[in-house]
This record gives sequence, C-alpha cells and structure tokens, in this order.
Amino acid sequence: MTRRIVVANQKGGVGKTTTVANLGAALHKMGKRVLLIDMDPQAALTATYGIDPYNLPRSMYSVLINENTSIARVLKPVGKGGEMAIAPASIDLAAAEVQLVNASNRAHRLKLGLDRNRIPFDFVLIDTPPSLGLLTLNGLVGATEVLVPVQTHFLAMRGVRGLMETVWRVKKKLNPELQLLGMLPTMYAENSQHAKEVVQELRSVFGKKVFDIMVHNSMKFAEVPVARQTLVDYAPDHDGALAYRKLAEEIVNG
Ligand SMILES: Nc1ncnc2c1ncn2[C@@H]1O[C@H](COP(=O)(O)OP(=O)(O)OP(=O)(O)O)[C@@H](O)[C@H]1O
Ligand SMILES: [Mg+2]
Repeated sequence: MTRRIVVANQKGGVGKTTTVANLGAALHKMGKRVLLIDMDPQAALTATYGIDPYNLPRSMYSVLINENTSIARVLKPVGKGGEMAIAPASIDLAAAEVQLVNASNRAHRLKLGLDRNRIPFDFVLIDTPPSLGLLTLNGLVGATEVLVPVQTHFLAMRGVRGLMETVWRVKKKLNPELQLLGMLPTMYAENSQHAKEVVQELRSVFGKKVFDIMVHNSMKFAEVPVARQTLVDYAPDHDGALAYRKLAEEIVNG
C-alpha cells in the first residue's frame, strides 16, 4: 500500500519544502521507495535536486492540464541508489491554476495522475505552495494524509485553524479518506520562552496530533540546498537531520 502524504500550510516559509525533502531522504535511507511531488510554482523542491524549472518539457503542469497523463510520464530519478523520484514543478504551474478554473475534475487532476501510475512507491510526499488555491487543493484531494509543519513563532496558530477548517471541508466534500497525520513544530528556538508557549498552545488545541519530535531552528537547513542536498544526506547526524529521521521512523512504525 502506498501512503500519500501532503505537506501543507498556507503560511509561507514554515518548512514545508524542507520537510518534504528531508523526510523523503530519511524514508529513502530506511529502504523505502519514495516519490516526491512538487506542486509549487516557486519550484524550490525541484531546484533542490538540481533540476531547472525554467527548462522542463514534462512537469506537473502536464499532469494537471492533460487529464489523461500518468504521473509516471514526468518522473525524474533523484538521489543515490535509485528507488527515489521527483515529479518536478515548472514555472508555468502558476498558469495551470488559472487555466483550470472552469475545467472538469480540476481538484482531482493530481489524484487521477497518481491513480494511473503503475510504478510502485511506498511513499508519495507532496509539497504545496503557501496558499489554499487549486494547487494545494489538488494535494489535499490526491493524498490520504496531511502533515502540517507549524513554525513555532508569533502568530503561527492563526493560520493553522483556518487550514484545519479547509482540511475538514475537503474531507467532507471531496476526499473522505483524508486524515490528519500530525503537526510538526519547526524552527524551534530552544532558549525562547515564546517558542515554548507556542508549542504549549498547539498541544492544548490539537493534543496528540502534535508530534513529540520538534525540528529546532538551525542555519544548516538554509545552507545545504546550495549544495543540492538535503540535510539528512549531507549531515545525517546533525540534530536537524536526526529530527527528520525520527519523524520518518515514527511515520513508518506508527
Ligand atoms: N528548522 C529550520 N531552522 C532554520 N531554518 C529553516 C528550518 N527549516 C527550514 N529552514 C529554512 O527556512 C526557509 C523556509 O523553509 P522552506 O522553504 O522549507 O519553507 P516553505 O514552507 O516550503 O516555504 P514556502 O511557503 O515559500 O514554500 C528556507 O530557507 C529553509 O532552508
Ligand atoms: Mg516551499
């Protein structure tokens, strides 16, 4: 059984792409077959793997625009040792959102593309843009689980409630299979009383749905994409990499 996990939060810069890339690398290290999907026209995930989003004949754009395209047609292998692939974003993905406004099955295009794929994967991880538009909606409809990175900063909670309302609405109307996998506190500043309070508040509202694992604040995360690598691959024993490796274990073993 393939697990399809969408990483979503309409707030920008909270660690969505970092979470997809590092969780993907950690699952791959555990021997899992991993497919990464980039649904963000900013294409940060795509760029992490050295793929140029300005020069891509086949990308998620094709999958969204052509109802009959299997995701297998746009895959590119990434990482060492095979068994890991990315369905990249190209910059015209932003146009797809507009082009699809009145199209049939517009929220189901990613799901259809995934259902058609015959290449086996254990995990599909979907990165989404910082908005609740059609691209994120396709992610929520195409997945069965949603993982929400929450930056442990001022006002972080504000957007999370709105996001959860959207998730429940999608579950009711479009994708009854959708479950909340959990919330992942990110960019946690150890010495900050404020960060502690944000995590407390998150736990008081969402209880067990908040992972015990927290990703601490570290400049290392911003440095490694330049080397076209994830922190998990570049420095597997770094604190930040360990957090994502623990998260991967928890997701696999429950
Ligand atoms: N734990 C962390 N500590 C410090 N910096 C981090 C951490 N995680 C990610 N970053 C950095 O913060 C920035 C934003 O992270 P990222 O791109 O993953 O967020 P995002 O939610 O995908 O953003 P967007 O909404 O723009 O897609 C990046 O420069 C990234 O390297
Ligand atoms: Mg991103």
